[in-house]
Amino acid sequence: MAGNTLGSLFKITTFGESHGKAVGVLIDGVKSNIPISEADIQKELDRRRPGQSAVTTARKEEDRVQILSGVFEGKTLGTPICLLIWNKDADPKAYESIKDLFRPGHAGYTYLSKYSIQDYRGGGRSSGRETAGRVAAGAVAKKILAKRGIQIIAYTKEVGGITAKKIDYDVIEKNAVRCADLVAAKKMEKKILKVKKEGDSLGGVVEAVVKNCPAGLGDPVFDKLEADLAKALMSIPAIKGFEIGSGFTATRMKGSEHNDEFYKDNKTGKIRTKTNFAGGILGGISNGEDIVVRVAVKPPSSIPKAQKTVDVEGKKRTIKVEGRHDPCLCPRVVPVVESMIALVIADHLVRQKQVAANHSITRIRGEIDLLDDMIMLLVSQRQDLVRDIGRWKQKHHVPIPDSKREKDILKKRLALADETNLEPEFIEELYAAIFHHARKIQREV
Ligand SMILES: Cc1cc2nc3c(=O)[nH]c(=O)nc-3n(C[C@H](O)[C@H](O)[C@H](O)COP(=O)(O)O)c2cc1C
Repeated sequence: MAGNTLGSLFKITTFGESHGKAVGVLIDGVKSNIPISEADIQKELDRRRPGQSAVTTARKEEDRVQILSGVFEGKTLGTPICLLIWNKDADPKAYESIKDLFRPGHAGYTYLSKYSIQDYRGGGRSSGRETAGRVAAGAVAKKILAKRGIQIIAYTKEVGGITAKKIDYDVIEKNAVRCADLVAAKKMEKKILKVKKEGDSLGGVVEAVVKNCPAGLGDPVFDKLEADLAKALMSIPAIKGFEIGSGFTATRMKGSEHNDEFYKDNKTGKIRTKTNFAGGILGGISNGEDIVVRVAVKPPSSIPKAQKTVDVEGKKRTIKVEGRHDPCLCPRVVPVVESMIALVIADHLVRQKQVAANHSITRIRGEIDLLDDMIMLLVSQRQDLVRDIGRWKQKHHVPIPDSKREKDILKKRLALADETNLEPEFIEELYAAIFHHARKIQREV
């Protein structure tokens, strides 16, 4: 089924269901000789893994990655890379009692409407577990970006209405909510635990910054960089909103306040902007400033609190979603957001190389070869028609040479030569050869 692949030249396809045998990803379009190890990928997967703290689910998935293909002696081969993560802590029994009920906020009803079948265990394909494949692929993309000095940092900005007042990248991995402000982090943690005790859950905002992204990435008009980022980030389960730069705040600003003033940085010689309300992208193309995006993360739907719903027959029921679920998704969404951004930027880097290569002699010769192929095809088609005329002339006893017709054709072609900037002498020589050959063919039929 379509819809499981992201990217144009650097492409990923994820596979697997939450309680199936395994989840994973197939990556295509990675250059050869890039050093990559299972440990590099594992480091990223461990950040997404459940069971990291009291504010995430108690599920104890090990999430061990195996590289099945595309890597030899620690380096990429340039062939498809398949990464596999076995599902070990899957507990389908927890879903037996509620398998015929539509869990509010979950995709059971829509999957059933679309496919007429669903793996009800843990949300199947719609589960957050699918994002393990994205994070594994993101680790490969991050390696490629790191070689160019591009860094992506995501963090929890807001939870249940509590907002980070400062941004300190050094503290993100030192608190359970992955907030960039330790004071706010403590408050967030407390609020999540309180709401968890009440059998409920909380939403929040995750912000991400891309540092050292070169100017020039993004393909207007439909593959603008922010459009591709929005698509990739909105495809993460539980993401309900996307903002870039000033985002929705721009609606309350004047143009004079919002416009980022350009200046030339005398140290680097680069054109920069004094403010960054644009969020690092103008007209769909990166401008070299930090790319700043935010996503809205909904409160997770699986809550032990009793909720009203219906079963597959439409009968009224009450549901309590027991099992091990995240009371707030933000800390686990952080590495997924980084990965999706890394995948989009990696793809656009490869795409930009193609644009830059447009002036190369190889590309120009390739285009000439294509035109020559078309000329050959047209000459062959013309030859077939000339032969048909020859047969007609033979049948109706009409002489082969027809100087009036030849003159008419040449007159029309010379008029067109003038319009298309072609030399008349060249067209006369070309048509002299064409007429000579046509007479020869017609004599032979
Ligand atoms: C890393 C990750 C973990 C998730 N874990 C849970 C969870 O434990 N409980 C839950 O209700 N939703 C969880 N979700 C979200 C659901 O998968 C998602 O809300 C559901 O499939 C419906 O899709 P939608 O919210 O995008 O419409 C998780 C999402 C992510 C990205």
